[in-house]
Amino acid sequence: MDKRPRILTGDTPTGRLHLGHWVGSLENRIRLQNDYDCFFLIANMHAFTTRADEPAAIRRDTLEIVKDWLAAGIDPERSTLVLQTEIPAIAELSWYFAMLLPFNRVMRNPTLKTEIELKDLGDHYSFGFPLYAVGQCADILVFRPELVPVGEDQVAHIEMCREVGRRFNWTYAGVDPQAKDEDHIARGGIFPIPRALVGRVGRLTGTDGKNKMSKSLGNAIFLTDTNKEIKKKMGALYTGRKTMTEPGDVNNALFQYVRAFIKDPARVAELETKYAAGDNIGDGHIKVEVAAAMEELLEPMRQRRAALEGEAGDRRVLEILHAHTAKANAVAEETLYAAKQAMKLDFGRRSIVFP
Ligand code: TRP
Repeated sequence: MDKRPRILTGDTPTGRLHLGHWVGSLENRIRLQNDYDCFFLIANMHAFTTRADEPAAIRRDTLEIVKDWLAAGIDPERSTLVLQTEIPAIAELSWYFAMLLPFNRVMRNPTLKTEIELKDLGDHYSFGFPLYAVGQCADILVFRPELVPVGEDQVAHIEMCREVGRRFNWTYAGVDPQAKDEDHIARGGIFPIPRALVGRVGRLTGTDGKNKMSKSLGNAIFLTDTNKEIKKKMGALYTGRKTMTEPGDVNNALFQYVRAFIKDPARVAELETKYAAGDNIGDGHIKVEVAAAMEELLEPMRQRRAALEGEAGDRRVLEILHAHTAKANAVAEETLYAAKQAMKLDFGRRSIVFP
C-alpha cells in the first residue's frame, strides 16, 4: 500500500486542454506527482450530462484528454488514471450522497448556475446535469484524498463535497458535526474532509482580453497549438492601448500572461515598470516575448504528444486505462464497502474482475 497522502482530481472530456487548465490545475498535478499518491479522473460519465447524443465524440475526447495529460507530464508509472465509467463504486456512492444533500442545496450551487448560463442550458437541461455535482462528490470521496487540485471555478463543487463528507460521517459514523475537518478520520469517520488546492492563476483570461479562457468561447490557446497559431492568437489580443508611450495597465490580460508565462521575475518586473510608465514599449513587442515563453513551455509537450498520435497512440492510451482500472477499483471498492458497513448495508463483499 502506498503510504503517501492522496490526491484526486479530474477533467470532463470536452475537447483539448488549454493554458487556462495548465495554470489553474494541471501544473500543480504534475508537480505533486512525486509526493502524493495521485488519482486523475476522466469524467466521461459527466460528458453525457450535456451531450448524451454524442457517444462517438465523447469517446474521442476521452482518448484525447488522456493524450493531453500524458503530453503535459502526467506519468502513468507514478500516478493512477481513473476512467469514471469503469468504477461502479462512484455511481453507487453518488446515490447515497444524493440523499444527504437537500435538492435546493444542489440547485443553488454557483458553479452549476454559471454553467447553465454559459452553456445556455436554459431550463431544458437533463436531470443528470445537476446530478453531476453530486457525482463529483463521489468521484472525490471514494478515493479518500487529502487534496483536490482544481481551477477556481470548481471550488463550489469541492465545498459541496466537504459538506457531504461531514454529513455522512455524522449520520452514519457518529462523528460530531462540530469536529474539526482534519479530525474526522481519527474520530471514526469514513471520509476525510479534503481541501481544494487552486493553481497559481485561478482564472486565466482568454485571448479576447475579457472572458475566462475556454474552448467554447473561442478564446483559448491549446496545449497542442503550433507556434504559428500561438503567434496569431497573441497578435489578435486586444488591450486598447494605442502608442508605445501611453502608460499601460499592468492588470490587463497581456500582463496576466507576462506574469503567468515569463519565467524570469526580473524581466517581468522590468516589463511591468516600463509598461506602466509608457516607457517606449509596444504591446506587439511584449506579445512576441509572451508567445516565445508559451512556446518554450509547450514544445516538450508537443514532442511527447507526437509519440501518441494515431491508432498506435489510441492503443497505448487504452492499455494504460485498462491497467489502471484494476488499481482504481481496488481502492474505490474498499471505500464503498466501508461506507456500506457504516450504513448497515454490509451484506457481503464483492470483487470486480476486469480481465
Ligand atoms: N467538473 C470538473 C470539470 O469540469 C471535472 C471533475 C469531475 C472533477 N470529477 C471531479 C474535478 C473530481 C475534480 C475532482 O472540470
